[in-house]
Amino acid sequence: LCRFPLKSVRGVPLMEPIAQKWDSVWAFCPDPSDLLIATYPKAGTTWTQEIVDLLLHNGDAEACKRAPTVVRIPFLEIYSPPPIPSGLDLLNAMSPPRVIKTHLPIQLVPEGFWENKCKVIYVARNAKDNMVSYYHFDRMNMTQPEPGPWEGYIHKFMKGELGWGSWYDHVKGYWEERERRNILYLFYEDMKENPRREVERIMRYLDLSLSDDVIERIVELTSFKVMKDNPMANYTFIPKPVFDHSISPFMRKGEVGDWVNYFSPTQLQLFDEDYERQMKTVNIPFRTKI
Ligand code: A3P
Repeated sequence: LCRFPLKSVRGVPLMEPIAQKWDSVWAFCPDPSDLLIATYPKAGTTWTQEIVDLLLHNGDAEACKRAPTVVRIPFLEIYSPPPIPSGLDLLNAMSPPRVIKTHLPIQLVPEGFWENKCKVIYVARNAKDNMVSYYHFDRMNMTQPEPGPWEGYIHKFMKGELGWGSWYDHVKGYWEERERRNILYLFYEDMKENPRREVERIMRYLDLSLSDDVIERIVELTSFKVMKDNPMANYTFIPKPVFDHSISPFMRKGEVGDWVNYFSPTQLQLFDEDYERQMKTVNIPFRTKI
């Protein structure tokens, strides 16, 4: 097992094995009933998957275990260092509707998703917390490139030199297309602030109508506390040597504002100035505290 280097696909740095198989990734065609959850890594993908899976199973956690709709390996990560099955294999073994996850920026999402008018949920998280979370993920996921020291990591983040490319381009890309392509654009901070409101928002987007009790149960089952002990959600099903949970657990903190523990005043100033510059063309209502 090794930490894969990054290789550019149409200007976006992706893990080399994905880049090598790019043609089969690009050719993938979903079923119209499939749903896509798209995120920049560490923005709240697993949380949203868990909510959607429970919504589709009327809040029945046992039914989720028996017949999961969620593909927990990003389907386009078609490399599969043993013992992990490839996302594409998992996907092909399931019948639609499937909940597919991807970290690809919008321009690299295969055309079939748009042609088939699949529903797409995008989850965005403020840049600073997203970066802190990604930093720890890069430390514990032995297939990701070495993160190096925090100081240098900030620069890589600002330049878009991490796996899946620029956070700035990612969040802007989906934001600009959200109305035209009927994308439900969610924020991690909103989910933290009022999980019930956001669960209901997702429910409506999926054209479902569940009882108050069921909604309440889904909110409870998808709390950080419960998910941290759920082996399907906490990724302990991916053990060493791929994920080293002793370095940093997958379900790490689950907070808004943890970034204050990482940025020095100088780093903060540099980052904020650069942020202004990179985000000046859009007005996406990110919050770095709630
Ligand atoms: P932290 O590293 O800040 O703790 P992803 O699923 O996209 O990889 O995102 C993982 C991040 O979402 C981690 O952030 C994880 O703790 C957080 N997360 C997962 N489930 C959560 C929940 N139910 N509530 C709050 N945060 C959650």
